[in-house]
Amino acid sequence: MKSVVLLGYMGAGKTTIGHALAKEIGVRFYDLDWYIEMRFHKTVAQIFEERGEDAFREMERNMLHEVAEFENVVISCGGGTPCFFDNMDYMNSLCETIYLKASPDVLAAHLRMGRVVRPLIAGKTEEELAAYIREMLRQREPFYSKAKYIFDVDLLNSREKVAESVRLLREATGI
Ligand code: S3P
Repeated sequence: MKSVVLLGYMGAGKTTIGHALAKEIGVRFYDLDWYIEMRFHKTVAQIFEERGEDAFREMERNMLHEVAEFENVVISCGGGTPCFFDNMDYMNSLCETIYLKASPDVLAAHLRMGRVVRPLIAGKTEEELAAYIREMLRQREPFYSKAKYIFDVDLLNSREKVAESVRLLREATGI
């Protein structure tokens, strides 16, 4: 099996669905943010703070090249990964790529539910967050849309909904 990469904006459910999908098909799961944190012994938030976004993007690309070389794994990349360097073409050349597409409302709801500190949205009010998500999606959709598959994601607020999404995703992609 080619490795599977899940991509999409922050809060689309890449980690949640990726983890569940990997478990179901019996392969290893790699979350690119976690992989970066493990390799550099720092959180993504610390890397942004101490070295800035440009340095983070370089590290992210290098780590993407490590994990995308693995065979038979499910990878969830960061929300920005497909939008820098030639990352999207690179992923398409090696992996099955799936864009998890969610509406701004679903993204905002997931981000509110999550406990991960995301430096790009830290400290934003509800309205600021909604406006920011809409603008980022406008900029990023052209990159995300290059994925081999596009899969619509609804609100994932229960285990059942996650399981159902995984079932539908497998049906849609044949994975
Ligand atoms: C980012 C998304 C984050 C993380 C970093 C930047 C982005 O990943 O890589 O905070 O640019 O959208 P998640 O989408 O996994 O939260």
